[in-house]
Amino acid sequence: MLKIISVVGARPNFMKIAPIHKAFSNSVIHNNGVKHLICHTGQHYDEKMSKIFFDDLELPYPDFYLGVGSGSHAEQTAKVMIEFEKILLKEKPDVIIVVGDVNSTIACSLVASKLNIKVVHVEAGLRSFDRTMPEEINRLLTDSISDFLFVTEKSGLDNLKNEGVSESKIFFVGNVMIDSLLHYLPKTEASEILNDLELKKNEFILVTLHRPSNVDSVSFLSQLISTLNNLGRKGKIVFPVHPRTKKNLSEMGLEENLSENVLLTDPIGYIDFLTLLKNAGLVITDSGGIQEETTFLGVQCITVRENTERPVTVEIGTNQLIGTNLKKVEQAAEKILNGEKKCGKIPELWDGKSAERIVQILVQKFLS
Ligand code: UD1
Repeated sequence: MLKIISVVGARPNFMKIAPIHKAFSNSVIHNNGVKHLICHTGQHYDEKMSKIFFDDLELPYPDFYLGVGSGSHAEQTAKVMIEFEKILLKEKPDVIIVVGDVNSTIACSLVASKLNIKVVHVEAGLRSFDRTMPEEINRLLTDSISDFLFVTEKSGLDNLKNEGVSESKIFFVGNVMIDSLLHYLPKTEASEILNDLELKKNEFILVTLHRPSNVDSVSFLSQLISTLNNLGRKGKIVFPVHPRTKKNLSEMGLEENLSENVLLTDPIGYIDFLTLLKNAGLVITDSGGIQEETTFLGVQCITVRENTERPVTVEIGTNQLIGTNLKKVEQAAEKILNGEKKCGKIPELWDGKSAERIVQILVQKFLS
């Protein structure tokens, strides 16, 4: 029996593990060949940052919950390591699967690799080449100790080869997040979110911003308020606010300055958020995953960052990397709202079958 523990920690992990879990459950070797368990580190713990995703993505209750919560990077990473080591020593899995680039990803891969447990990294090889981002450090370190590196886009293959990673460990399988998107897209038809927020298809702007480099800055946030108020004159804006952004907006006393056309909401669950994404006229974001989801959906996206680890979304998708100068963001948004749209294509292997490929490769390597 091959025992595998997959790790989830923060919001962007849930939609990546869900299709992998489904692919293991559907696979013929399930029950006699593979035992797939889920460990939730508790890095994200709010109902709206975590539990709603388990419900929306039909994930089973996690087999292990570490309850680490918030803290500094060192505190959070260290707490995950201490608790995850206990699980690994007791459970003795053969393999662990980590996804993405959050603190739980590096914490769990480090613990497993020191116990000589094979580490699988899904979404390997992405690089922003900006080492001031905690996610970039997490990506570099996780990739360097992983035994299997599953890559979403061609840039990932080049980056890993340039870093000297053996080609025998690298597999181009596509994007598991798109597996979830494709699987759950039909469910968006039943979502009431557009009615609830009084939005019309293609006539609103969806905004998400949570990167510390943006939202921890008073000057960025106060400029953001005037940018949103200006754009709000052209159409309604919906801004589901991440806890980090919410805390900063209220501490800086900025919330009151927003016009009534800018709607702040709590974080939104997976199906309702997909519904918003699919129907938005424009998305303005600093998220990693949303750059990919908009490219897949053919929705216009402005990324408020100086770099992206997902260059395919700019090279062939609908994403535009505008930078953090909000005047430029406003200009780019106005162009799109005036009809100057970017055409996009769907990247190779973003076809809803990535998790199946991953499971097939792992089963072949470990069970045959
Ligand atoms: C983390 C990831 C980031 C990912 C993001 C998605 C790292 C280094 N960063 O950033 O890559 O894009 O998640 O959301 O792992 N908080 C709550 N409730 C929660 C979770 C967080 O209130 O359920 C608050 C806490 O006050 C915390 C702050 O949000 O201090 C930030 O949370 P944290 O997990 O540290 O990092 P994120 O900014 O969410």
